[in-house]
Amino acid sequence: MSRLARLSGLVRSQVFTKVAILGACVVLLYLSFPYFRDIRHIDQYFDSAEERPIEVFDYKDTFDEKRCFDSVTPAPNPIPKIVHVAWFDNPELTFMTYLTIRSAIVSIKPDHINLHYTSLNETNKWFLQVRDHVRLVQHDLGKEYTTQVQENWQIKHISDLFRLDTIHKEGGIYLDMDVLALRPFDNLLNSQKDVVLGHEGADRSELCNSVIVGRPGSQFIQRWRNSYSGNFSTDDWNYHSTILPKELSEHHPDEICTLSPTAFSWPTWTKRHIDYMHEYLSETEAKEFAKEVVTNNGRLLQSQMTYHEWSKIASSHLDRLDPESVMRDATRFNILARRFLN
Ligand SMILES: *[C@@H]1O[C@H](CO)[C@@H](O)[C@H](O)[C@H]1NC(C)=O
Ligand SMILES: *[C@@H]1O[C@H](CO)[C@@H](O)[C@H](O)[C@H]1NC(C)=O
Repeated sequence: MSRLARLSGLVRSQVFTKVAILGACVVLLYLSFPYFRDIRHIDQYFDSAEERPIEVFDYKDTFDEKRCFDSVTPAPNPIPKIVHVAWFDNPELTFMTYLTIRSAIVSIKPDHINLHYTSLNETNKWFLQVRDHVRLVQHDLGKEYTTQVQENWQIKHISDLFRLDTIHKEGGIYLDMDVLALRPFDNLLNSQKDVVLGHEGADRSELCNSVIVGRPGSQFIQRWRNSYSGNFSTDDWNYHSTILPKELSEHHPDEICTLSPTAFSWPTWTKRHIDYMHEYLSETEAKEFAKEVVTNNGRLLQSQMTYHEWSKIASSHLDRLDPESVMRDATRFNILARRFLN
């Protein structure tokens, strides 16, 4: 064998070894962290070409979106001004859940907030700070979702059902625990249609189930809920939680109002958007951004109702936050969140 061939064989086998080791690491990571498989739209998250339709937006509401946003004519039976939040399978409220509840108190000024839980440490310091503002509603998922628990559904899938069941039964405003309410919801409560959802992503191909506004007993929620019966496989959860409601909204436009992508889920979950919210700003940038937020009454855009934190995708940023770092570090997220700290 010539020296060159030997050398190139050596290089090839080294490359092969590296690729094999790298591949094994990737597979191991994939298997060991369920949430890597769970990140919604994982393709868009890593392929920036595919992110563009998600994040490039002309900020123009459609005619229907505008009409849905400003349902000011009093309806005979307004949507109840009740906020529902749920915290299952973890007795400890966290700083981020505290922020969600605080934002609902400050921005929505609801008649009351139902904190749905399975078990709760009532001496937890975050709980103590919101205790006087929430009504505790304890659940036994084993009793309420017997079949699903027996079928080993993950808690997040049960939570998808739970929010539909709760709005169907009681009506109101459901907020995921990674959502900040940024303005009053009164403009939606007189909606002529029984349910209000927001698009997720600039291309409007999905509706987000992180914020659900609705009257009790609505047809739309019933249809959505029925889709989980019988045929649901946990591989389909993204389909059921975001794509299916979009399809249903196209088939039953008289039952649901859909809002612009900026209302509930903007900026999006793309890497660029998440970085935008969490990157450190210079003093000048921070001042300018803070000014913009004040001009927009505490939000990025006037028409923004909530900020969705995308807690799974942005966890590396969110998990290290506490009141001190939110006050100290100049990121767009922190500047937005500061007014909810006592
Ligand atoms: C509940 O929270 C308090 C305060 O953080 C803590 O000291 C206590 O150990 C917690 N209780 C349980 C059962 O974990
Ligand atoms: C069940 O799922 C299959 C494939 O996802 C679909 O084609 C079918 O229409 C579904 N059936 C019902 C009753 O939803």
